[in-house]
Amino acid sequence: MKGAIFFSSRHGSTEQYAQWISEATGLPMFDVNDANTDLKEYDFLILGSALIFFRLLFRKWVKTNLEDLKGRSKILFSVSGAGASDKLNRWVAASLPTSLLSNMEHVALRGRLDHSKLSWGLRQIMWIGSLFNPDPQASKEERYGFDYMDKASIEPILTWVEKYRSKEASA
Ligand SMILES: Cc1cc2nc3c(=O)[nH]c(=O)nc-3n(C[C@H](O)[C@H](O)[C@H](O)COP(=O)(O)O)c2cc1C
Repeated sequence: MKGAIFFSSRHGSTEQYAQWISEATGLPMFDVNDANTDLKEYDFLILGSALIFFRLLFRKWVKTNLEDLKGRSKILFSVSGAGASDKLNRWVAASLPTSLLSNMEHVALRGRLDHSKLSWGLRQIMWIGSLFNPDPQASKEERYGFDYMDKASIEPILTWVEKYRSKEASA
């Protein structure tokens, strides 16, 4: 059974998670922006995307590849500032077709925001956003950045891959 990781990252934390998952599972990883790879080559997929401005970064790629994605077993991981919550689930649901989302598990991972890597314009946007954020902790994080990178948090994804592989091996 062939599997692969397809990810979309803006500032590297989703790519770092993809790298950790790739090292732990031996699966190849592809940036959705570079990939000339055909999804049809794979039986199962790990899909990872950064969450930027309340939406998954790779939503357009998903739309373009919807038919090929639908026919395969898959798991989604999002990488965001917000942790697992109703708010995050709403953003994810607004990014993907229900028909796709209802057929895959979603694992919420937390990423990193380093203001020194942002453009001046983006830093201003984050600062203004922080003034209107009703959640005091999230507002602070928006203003000063955060680092929640945690290798151990990929565990549910590794478990899913193991289960998938052993189910297929015994079929
Ligand atoms: C421009 C920008 C917008 C963001 N918007 C959100 C957001 O709406 N909700 C959230 O939880 N995190 C938000 N974040 C935090 C990112 O999800 C977090 O930094 C994540 O680790 C980014 O992944 P990447 O490093 O792979 O690009 C935002 C970050 C940036 C830079």
